[in-house]
Amino acid sequence: MDLKEEVKKIIENLEDKNNELEVLEFIQNTEGYISKDMIKFVADKMDKFDFSIENTIKFYPHLKGEGKQIIEVKICTHTACKNNGSGKVLEEAKKLLGVEVDEITSDGKYKLMTQRCFGQCGKGPNVKIENEIYNKVTPKILANLLKK
Ligand code: FES
Repeated sequence: MDLKEEVKKIIENLEDKNNELEVLEFIQNTEGYISKDMIKFVADKMDKFDFSIENTIKFYPHLKGEGKQIIEVKICTHTACKNNGSGKVLEEAKKLLGVEVDEITSDGKYKLMTQRCFGQCGKGPNVKIENEIYNKVTPKILANLLKK
């Protein structure tokens, strides 16, 4: 189902017809952030002004509007990286970020993901943070990378 269709359904089924938080959290969990287009769509369907939806996004730190996109942390879990210990790196990432795979941290900063191979199998475990691939990552190295 298309995102707008899903969002429309959620709005129709809201218990509190005035509370857009649930709707915005759904969009963010699906897209990683809330685009201007989706703000307009929600405002229109809930009979509100765009700025009222934008204010809600500003009020809750875990919600991200356009331009404040979430940093994706991708851990390679494919065979070569797995054999080199990517499982431990993934467990450390879950612990440090306090989330499971495909979840967004409570501050809205990171999304933890897994990936099947970056094509750098001899140098694993490999982790991609934003557009940078890091090789031979240990749990300790990961902790330092996420501190930056
Ligand atoms: S298996 Fe991890 S980069 Fe190929």
